[in-house]
Amino acid sequence: MTTPPERFETERLQLRPPVTEDAAAIFATYARDPEVTRYVTWRPHTRTADTLEFLRYCAEGWAKNGPFNWVITLRESGHLVGAIELRPQGHRVELGYVLGRGYWGRGLMTEAACAVTRWALAQPDVYRVWAVCDVANRASARVLEKAGMQREGLLRGWSLHPNAGDTPRDCWCYARVKEAGVARCP
Ligand SMILES: CC(C)(COP(=O)(O)OP(=O)(O)OC[C@H]1O[C@@H](n2cnc3c(N)ncnc32)[C@H](O)[C@@H]1OP(=O)(O)O)[C@@H](O)C(=O)NCCC(=O)NCCS
Repeated sequence: MTTPPERFETERLQLRPPVTEDAAAIFATYARDPEVTRYVTWRPHTRTADTLEFLRYCAEGWAKNGPFNWVITLRESGHLVGAIELRPQGHRVELGYVLGRGYWGRGLMTEAACAVTRWALAQPDVYRVWAVCDVANRASARVLEKAGMQREGLLRGWSLHPNAGDTPRDCWCYARVKEAGVARCP
């Protein structure tokens, strides 16, 4: 996969690579929130040093052809509201995302997920954009469906979500492939 654009603009959002100066906003908006992090693979941040480590991971990704992370900001106010990630895996690309609790339920992540998914599937060497979500994470499953993905099956004991339990959790596998679903994305 070629290096993606550093910026995406959608109706309400701008996506851009994270910078060190975003640490305080990322920490306060979503990374320390136990509700937001319930079904992710990482522990909530307890100090800004945790967030700085995440920012180093992001910078390394951009320098090494992936994974690619963007922070999601509101075009109107400039507020940082979340983050989204593309992980290139040959002809496949995996999607991940997180949004501050105060911004849930407005279709924002669907907007961001559609933009990066559409870009990825337009690349000649990308045939599949996919994601997994915890079976209990119904909001995330809806985002993936609204981004034109199909639920392909149940992956039992797939992913450890340490904030939800000590053992690997069942996850839904979702994907959108080149041929299908393009028109469904807003
Ligand atoms: C998942 C997440 C990104 C969704 O972001 P969002 O911008 O609120 O999503 P949208 O508004 O685009 O869509 C959410 C959909 O889920 C639905 N939803 C929300 N909570 C729900 C629940 N508890 N049960 C069922 N559906 C739910 C909404 O109604 C909406 O669907 P609709 O448009 O059909 O009504 C956000 O909740 C989040 O950051 N969660 C924590 C981090 C996370 O889980 N990341 C994904 C890891 S796989």
